[in-house]
Amino acid sequence: MRSPFTQLVCLATVAIGTLSSFKALNFFGSDPRADEDHSQMIAEELPHARPPRGVPLTITEGTWLRAPGEEWIIQQNELARKQGLEPRFTEDPSAADGEGAWIDSTGFIQKRYDEEEDFWAYWQWVGPAQLTRGRRDFVQFCSSCHGLDGDGYGRSGQWLRPSPRDFRQTNFKFTKVLANLPTDDALKRLIKRGLDGTPMLPWDLSDEQITDIVQYIKSLSPEGMGWRDPFTGIGSIVEAGENPWAGRENFAIKHGEKVYHGVAQCMLCHPGYVNPRDLPGLLDQPEDTVYRENLYLPVLKDSEYEVLGEKVKILPPDFTFHTIRSGQTPQDLYETIASGIKGTAMPAWKGSLSEEDLWALAYYVQDLVEEYKDKPAERRGLMERLREGL
Ligand code: HEC
Ligand code: HEC
Repeated sequence: MRSPFTQLVCLATVAIGTLSSFKALNFFGSDPRADEDHSQMIAEELPHARPPRGVPLTITEGTWLRAPGEEWIIQQNELARKQGLEPRFTEDPSAADGEGAWIDSTGFIQKRYDEEEDFWAYWQWVGPAQLTRGRRDFVQFCSSCHGLDGDGYGRSGQWLRPSPRDFRQTNFKFTKVLANLPTDDALKRLIKRGLDGTPMLPWDLSDEQITDIVQYIKSLSPEGMGWRDPFTGIGSIVEAGENPWAGRENFAIKHGEKVYHGVAQCMLCHPGYVNPRDLPGLLDQPEDTVYRENLYLPVLKDSEYEVLGEKVKILPPDFTFHTIRSGQTPQDLYETIASGIKGTAMPAWKGSLSEEDLWALAYYVQDLVEEYKDKPAERRGLMERLREGL
């Protein structure tokens, strides 16, 4: 029998254990043993502190999930070679019934034939042990918001704005890829980083834990959708190449202001930050510019995200007021603007704007944040200038 005191200590440890998984709240300091002892305790003595009664945690069947295609495989091999490692995939012309395929040395990614769709694609085998580990950690750390079955309707999630993601909808906003679906790495990066200004905090779990959770999340795709659809594209993170404005940041901001209000028309959804009277002087082709009403306010936009079967409308951020969720360094902003935000009105701009314009927009948006966000007096001044004469 444990004394009531030990029981109390155990309870406190569970509470602290759960909290310390948030990077933001990690107060275990620098003694690595403290962490070690504590994770052992979670692992052995208190496997998953308290899943709600009757909630199954074990998954008995493995599953095939759509994997990234040849381009990604070749990229991975090149990356390994650069790091002096043995490439993971080898080309085998006799594989996949003579179709030829890249074969994974670990045996988990294979080119397979989908009979129903009459289509060859790369698929990844995820076994029941990994899915069970992923489910346990998901129930422990994520389900309070994302729901016990990942439907985005957890006990605490019900009250949150923005709503936690419903993983059966297979849409992701901030993974910074061009194709529909993100790679595992893109998802892992997002989970470790969190989303600023939302209840989705940065998660300081081990790389293995996050890998397992990611596989579990992918397995929630309904039949024929997301990672269970042979035709979906899986895209790598958009890489910000060389910064063409290095050393000329002030020019970038000026140019960004023009692109924002001119050719890109970001202000059709986000606010405009220049008084319409001053816009013609700023732009090369002012006659192409559309002026909407209430130019200094963002416009509520439709999205593909659903809560209880209803499509959710999303307000584009006012950069002088709202928190940018997925990072606000020029590089973060370049990646966000280039890749767009899937399932929302925010398009991907890579390809339709030059690299110079994309980087300039990133600098301009960052400048708006630095000059006005959380600075009420400066922001009030800006708003007065914008409304003057309207
Ligand atoms: C306190 C509530 C909360 C918890 C706990 C939580 N999340 Fe989230 N999560 C959110 C919210 C809210 C969003 C939606 C943010 C948005 O749409 O801007 C989100 C979004 C996401 C997204 C989608 C991001 C995108 O680009 O669309 C992923 C993936 C995700 N969470 C994974 C996790 C994982 C994995 C865990 C557990 C380790 C977890 N979350 C725990 C609240 C939470
Ligand atoms: C058709 C409407 C629309 C246009 C045009 C548009 N956006 Fe957006 N943008 C949105 C919406 C909606 C969101 C919010 C998505 C969310 O948070 O779920 C958004 C979000 C953003 C974010 C915040 C991302 C984050 O991490 O939180 C940035 C930065 C951004 N847009 C930049 C731009 C720039 C620069 C342009 C012009 C090149 C632009 N947008 C044009 C609709 C638009």
